[in-house]
Amino acid sequence: MPELTIKKIGILTGGGDCPGLNAVIRAAVKTAIIQYGWKVIGIEDGFEGLLLDGKTRPLLFDNVKGILARGGTILGSSNRGNPFEYKFKEGGKVIVEDRSPLLMDKLRALEIDALVVIGGDGTLSIADRLFKMGVPLVGVPKTIDNDLASTDVTFGFDTAVNTATEAIDKIRTTGESHHRVMIVEVMGRYTGWIALQAGVASGADIILIPEIPFKIEKICEVINERVKTGRNATIVVVAEGAKPEGGDMAVKMVVEESHDPIRLGGIGDMLADKISREIHLETRVTVLGHIQRGGVPSAFDRTLATRLGVAAVDVLAAGGSGRMVCLRATHIDSVTLEDAVKQLKKVPPDGEVVKSAQSIGVSFGK
Ligand code: F6P
Repeated sequence: MPELTIKKIGILTGGGDCPGLNAVIRAAVKTAIIQYGWKVIGIEDGFEGLLLDGKTRPLLFDNVKGILARGGTILGSSNRGNPFEYKFKEGGKVIVEDRSPLLMDKLRALEIDALVVIGGDGTLSIADRLFKMGVPLVGVPKTIDNDLASTDVTFGFDTAVNTATEAIDKIRTTGESHHRVMIVEVMGRYTGWIALQAGVASGADIILIPEIPFKIEKICEVINERVKTGRNATIVVVAEGAKPEGGDMAVKMVVEESHDPIRLGGIGDMLADKISREIHLETRVTVLGHIQRGGVPSAFDRTLATRLGVAAVDVLAAGGSGRMVCLRATHIDSVTLEDAVKQLKKVPPDGEVVKSAQSIGVSFGK
């Protein structure tokens, strides 16, 4: 195969946003211009920006000035634009079409030689398929959920954990004043990383995660035991994907056009309903929701995002493609996209963090 000479790259952010996306964009644009003299095109709203007209624009130094600490993404994001299964509504029906040939035409027309694709498992799976069709590209992992197996941490996660921790700290003070059971539902999709870390960091009494199905009787037992010993407030941190033993996750809605249609939510209310039948304490639920995805990225996330943005461009410059840059212990590395999206990274139920929490009396409801 002739070696690829890159003159112009495209950058896009796909899937749910998270703090640190702009730091990646800034780092990739600066590296591409300063180190390699490349031009950069920003693609709006994920892959959809390559399927619809008027959704690309040049990214110059000035366009990335002052965005390091800004939450969200200056390019916009979407989880609706899977080119291989493009979904749209016509006459009330959802139609599915393969629009990947259109995407390839668009890349040629824009003279984009390679892509930097910033996304979670859904976006990176699409990137892997495009790579296999011949599109040179490198992926950058992002998600507040921290559920990608091939990187030690994803940027966005640290900020989300800090946001959740701060919120739970506040919920604790009002819960203690009123002697209530305070349930805090956090995000995380099918994994419990946010609940576990924010729960430990905020001194939660009960942490419920999808990886350790809970027993409602056990939760009530723990709360009753606390009441007996004079501790009339209990903080329960529950991951949106947590489920009872033998039961299912709570689904809030189905977004048909999305390439990952299931939206979780509602487990907090379900728990409150069950707990308040058994326990003679008032119970309140707070769903933290998208507050965990928004706002200024933490210093850790800004630095990690910058390192990954630089690395993505360096990998392309070195002739690499079909890879995802990642964090391994203290250094940045890369793995094949195929390996990167193979499996979700779940909380090990008997891992060190869970065990530490158990050692200090935290219950996982089991
Ligand atoms: O993957 C990130 C995430 O925030 C999950 O934690 C959550 O389940 C989901 O996205 C929410 O998606 P949406 O923004 O489409 O409601």
